[in-house]
Amino acid sequence: MSFNHISVAEAASLIKHGYNIGLSGFTPAGTAKAVTAELAKIAEAEHAAGRPFQVGIFTGASTGDSCDGVLSRAKAIRYRAPYTTNPDFRKAVNNGEIAYNDIHLSQMAQELRYGFMGKVNVAIIEACEVTDDGKIYLTAAGGISPTVCRLADKIIIELNAAHSKAAMGLHDVYEPLDPPYRREIPVYKPSDRIGTPYIQVDPKKIVGIVETNWPDEARSFSAADPLTDKIGRNVADFLASDMKRGIIPPTFLPLQSGVGNIANAVLSALGHDKTIPPFEMYTEVIQNSVIGLIREGRIKFGSACSLTVTNDCLQGIYDDMDFFRDKLVLRPSEISNNPEVVRRLGIISINTAIEADIYGNVNSTHIGGTKMMNGIGGSGDFTRNAYISIFTCPSVAKEGKISAIVPMISHHDHTEHDVNIIVTEQGVADLRGKSPKERAQAIIENCVHPDYKQLLWDYLKMTDGKAQTPHAIRAALGMHAELAKSGDMRNTDWGQYL
Ligand code: COA
Repeated sequence: MSFNHISVAEAASLIKHGYNIGLSGFTPAGTAKAVTAELAKIAEAEHAAGRPFQVGIFTGASTGDSCDGVLSRAKAIRYRAPYTTNPDFRKAVNNGEIAYNDIHLSQMAQELRYGFMGKVNVAIIEACEVTDDGKIYLTAAGGISPTVCRLADKIIIELNAAHSKAAMGLHDVYEPLDPPYRREIPVYKPSDRIGTPYIQVDPKKIVGIVETNWPDEARSFSAADPLTDKIGRNVADFLASDMKRGIIPPTFLPLQSGVGNIANAVLSALGHDKTIPPFEMYTEVIQNSVIGLIREGRIKFGSACSLTVTNDCLQGIYDDMDFFRDKLVLRPSEISNNPEVVRRLGIISINTAIEADIYGNVNSTHIGGTKMMNGIGGSGDFTRNAYISIFTCPSVAKEGKISAIVPMISHHDHTEHDVNIIVTEQGVADLRGKSPKERAQAIIENCVHPDYKQLLWDYLKMTDGKAQTPHAIRAALGMHAELAKSGDMRNTDWGQYL
């Protein structure tokens, strides 16, 4: 069958007010771009004419400005799930303008299949190749593409020449059956391939192909600094010592690492610690630092959902595909982040916290308990099921006015039952095998900034000290209340609660 090649305007006009659209991609990598950017223009024109125009958006994770950014500014998003990092989207969510469902990334595809979020009307999928018999070859990310292709009434393909056809073969497309027919996901090591290198669809569902040449909108992260370097070294030293003690096998275990500067610093420190053998990644996002370490032979294999790398790095991978072919695989997010696989492989997870409390509960998503930052992403998928779950963060934010360690977090994402290790630039708190009271000692002693240590010891003194998890309940959010009042947690006066 030969497909209709249509203009981006024709493609966008197929999307009606009230539709839910399912997008390829995971982070800005591999995300459909041209049709969503055009859709924003339609929304603006409709709004100017006094008519409503909003859609629901289902994605793998965050997208680029050409989706979340332009559509938020055009007030064209009614509902969206899951994770996003776009500042305009964040503003709209925190103004109450968008219904945002922040679910675990591994659950997105299955919750669509289960019917929890409504119908997928149109899927917009970025591809590097489509064959007449309906084989879609994805670009730099797996995301939820297989599921939205299957569920959608119509599929629009963005055939993006900015991605080389060398991407064909990078993917391992696999969709599990739903209960009661679900079987184990047969990934027994990070490099196992269990599916096909393409998504097979009924070619009749492909209503048009839009040809584009639009590079991914991946961010580059700022250079490492002494603070992130110190956090990175603390994580590497901790893991090296766990290996020496025999807690981590001498072959090491696969790593998951979050996105951003701290993640880059951790990987760089691990990569350069020669007491740690070359290791594998089973993670959701591969950043530039991983590609460098694969080239150096320090990382043996990378399994992920996306190549969230700068465009020159991505081009380098495409140009060198003979080298990378047996060292990389991209999977749908429900496989890259699958709790069953994470637990089976014994992943060491490393993610970033916004704040943690003295008992080891972690907030990854909310500022001041109410305002959304980005979302939980895959941090919950990995943390709950990891062999060792690690959270990193600087001990203070906003020039020291905020302590990342507080008596009680203002929003819960990861509970004390799931968090094993907390690392700041101050040091490492090993919470494994400890009671809440023992954890509080370890966290305050090792992770808290000197400006806040006494304040937190004093908080503990205000509690009766006997309960399983001692709290002075009226004062538990006192540091947050002080931040709201004076703008500096260091001014907290526990006396007002006595
Ligand atoms: N209270 C208030 N604000 C805080 C804060 C706190 N306790 N801690 C940090 N902040 C502010 C920072 O000052 C910064 O503000 P700015 O944007 O005005 O500069 C902002 O929050 C982001 O902090 P930063 O240190 O730049 O964090 P980051 O870029 O490393 O991101 C997370 C940290 C937690 C937001 C990010 O890692 C995330 O979204 N995580 C959840 C998803 C996840 O873990 N994904 C990976 C799974 S594979």
